[in-house]
Amino acid sequence: MDLYEYQAKDIFAAHGVPVLPGSVADNPEDAKAIAAELGQTVVVKAQVKTGGRGKAGGVKLADDPEDTKTKAEAILGLDIKGHVVRRVLVTPASDIAEEYYFSFLLDRANRKFLAMASVEGGMDIEEVAATKPEALAKVLIDPIEGVDLAKAKDIAAQAKFPEAVADQVAEVIVKLWETFVSEDATLVEVNPLVRDPQDKIVALDGKVTLDDNAAFRHPAHADLVDVAAEDPLEAAAKAKDLNYVKLDGQVGIIGNGAGLVMSTLDVVAYAGEKHGGVKPANFLDIGGGASAEVMANGLEIILSDPDVRSVFVNVFGGITACDAVANGIVQAFQLLESRGEAVTRPIVVRLDGNNAEEGRRILTEAALPGLEQVDTMDNAADKAAALASAGA
Ligand SMILES: Nc1ncnc2c1ncn2[C@@H]1O[C@H](COP(=O)(O)OP(=O)(O)OP(=O)(O)O)[C@@H](O)[C@H]1O
Ligand SMILES: [Mg+2]
Repeated sequence: MDLYEYQAKDIFAAHGVPVLPGSVADNPEDAKAIAAELGQTVVVKAQVKTGGRGKAGGVKLADDPEDTKTKAEAILGLDIKGHVVRRVLVTPASDIAEEYYFSFLLDRANRKFLAMASVEGGMDIEEVAATKPEALAKVLIDPIEGVDLAKAKDIAAQAKFPEAVADQVAEVIVKLWETFVSEDATLVEVNPLVRDPQDKIVALDGKVTLDDNAAFRHPAHADLVDVAAEDPLEAAAKAKDLNYVKLDGQVGIIGNGAGLVMSTLDVVAYAGEKHGGVKPANFLDIGGGASAEVMANGLEIILSDPDVRSVFVNVFGGITACDAVANGIVQAFQLLESRGEAVTRPIVVRLDGNNAEEGRRILTEAALPGLEQVDTMDNAADKAAALASAGA
């Protein structure tokens, strides 16, 4: 999960990383009130989970509360790379002597963490890396050893931070490392890390990505989820513990096992080329259990997507045998009907693997409306694509 800048800075502050005060507002009047409270020149900053806000007109200086209101009006509602600004951060304007760059991230290829630091911060770090690679220090971090003050000083030295602030930067690096580890982050980035005219170091911006696999260790992180900004179907799926990703096609997909679902997407996309270019509408892995309730929840989510014109249920029976899955599908139809959401779009089912024959018999006997069985994955994908195309 990516965090907003203001959330990242709250976390920084909790770990002793120096940041400026500030508050978020979702309307110009509130922004004005925050500026009045701060009582000085402020910066109004778009809160969106994408980079390059400054260049897109999402970061503006404001001289007084009235000006803050005007700037907030201009920024709220702005579309920055497909992200609509719903909130702005109002924070004191800082005098800036120099802008630096610092980040910790997960380096999967090297099975290590990586520290990146540069005295040429503020702008696009990708550009610095491409045009002046020597200006970006990259230091691998052993996950067991971590970052102590000595290591932090080494990083600061490799990035050639000026002597006047190097020790202070090293202390901030240690605190950013503590943030990175104790919050289970996969990215902590500060751009710019600023040196003010009094040689004080402050994190003026912050990006944090939290590792969702560690969410169980951080109940408090649940509060950081921005439900309003999520896709409503994805949010509903998450609430039901389903592994669902919305795509923009017309064939709903349900499968068991991430690998099978991924290849189902490929096969449907391929088959769709012959049928007017229909595509998969989603990724949905119902996992190993495939109980009636999970199947019903999955079907319910998929059928509440108005773009879906047909559904392909692709199951390979393993530990959960096909007869159990078939019973799950039969009960799911009943469950949905009792919820007043009877299945009205065609469903193609392919069962294979453990106890496939018994599973197919159960479905044949149940004679569910609109459901048909196809024996192979390719033929089933073709059928589902044809139905989606015909239902247009
Ligand atoms: N509080 C502040 N006081 C003075 N200047 C600021 C302040 N915050 C940001 N700036 C200036 O605006 C620039 C852009 O700000 P920031 O880094 O937060 O956004 P960005 O780089 O455009 O967005 P992103 O980091 O998402 O790509 C900074 O490099 C800095 O020069
Ligand atoms: Mg920035």
